[in-house]
Amino acid sequence: MNSQADKIRGEVSRDYAKRITAPENTGCGCSCGSSASKGPLATLAGYSSDQLSTVPEGAASSSFACGNPLAYAGVKEGEVVLDLGSGAGLDLMLAAQKVGPTGRVLGIDMTDEMIAKANNNIRAGSYSNIEVRKGLIEELPVESASVDWVISNCVINLSPEKERVFREIARVLKPGGTMLVSDIVARDLPKELLAMPALYSSCITGAISEEEYLDGLEAVGLVDVKVLDRLMYDASLIEGYAEEALGEAVTEFSSCLASYSRQLEGRIWSAKVYGRKPL
Ligand SMILES: C[S@@+](CC[C@H](N)C(=O)[O-])C[C@H]1O[C@@H](n2cnc3c(N)ncnc32)[C@H](O)[C@@H]1O
Repeated sequence: MNSQADKIRGEVSRDYAKRITAPENTGCGCSCGSSASKGPLATLAGYSSDQLSTVPEGAASSSFACGNPLAYAGVKEGEVVLDLGSGAGLDLMLAAQKVGPTGRVLGIDMTDEMIAKANNNIRAGSYSNIEVRKGLIEELPVESASVDWVISNCVINLSPEKERVFREIARVLKPGGTMLVSDIVARDLPKELLAMPALYSSCITGAISEEEYLDGLEAVGLVDVKVLDRLMYDASLIEGYAEEALGEAVTEFSSCLASYSRQLEGRIWSAKVYGRKPL
């Protein structure tokens, strides 16, 4: 039991519950813009409008993605895909289309409100091969060596216990299985920003470096670990994230926001991280 880690998870979960139940939820979390139009935000994360048109509107509009991990994954019919921190379910549905009726897609999330939203979207899309379980990504309610793919989209940075998450990924993958996650990574974050709790849930201050990410995955036995692609954020986009993160506190910080955002430019980006469990 790690009470500090539990406290952080509790805060993250409350924040995402609030965001997903807000009347006009802006889709802002790990990725955000100043407009409330959701399709374009998912498009920014790398989803094509064709892809988004294949899922219920509620799934595309409630995406908190910072990438499109499935675009890099050669998921095939009949396979089992596990999505860590599945949120409102956009990646679950895209994976379900790829694995077809003989495959299976499993999502894990700790936030009841997110799970309810995902289940509504799954019903709206009449998917019969998706299941969402409540649980922690640090302690997956999933059998060992049971999945072909682990995907995740802007979630692992939110974990206060990333080594546990990496161990769990290695445990649940079948031998030869593949991990492909899109996540925020960072380097040399300014100290004054690290001291702002509001920036944790927005996927800024919990982010680790690419090197730590790859070392952590190698340490649990994954091989061929590498970054396949990167999406860099410019200052104006970072400013949009920070405004959303600070919410009511924004006026207190607004005079510094542009400067903080400029400080973050080049220090924070979304990476597509790949790893494989040896046969
Ligand atoms: C930024 S959102 C991303 C959601 C989704 N992957 C997407 O692309 O829209 C983060 C999600 O991860 C969940 N989450 C964060 N930390 C978690 C943890 N330690 N265990 C389980 N779920 C977690 C939150 O409840 C939330 O639904």
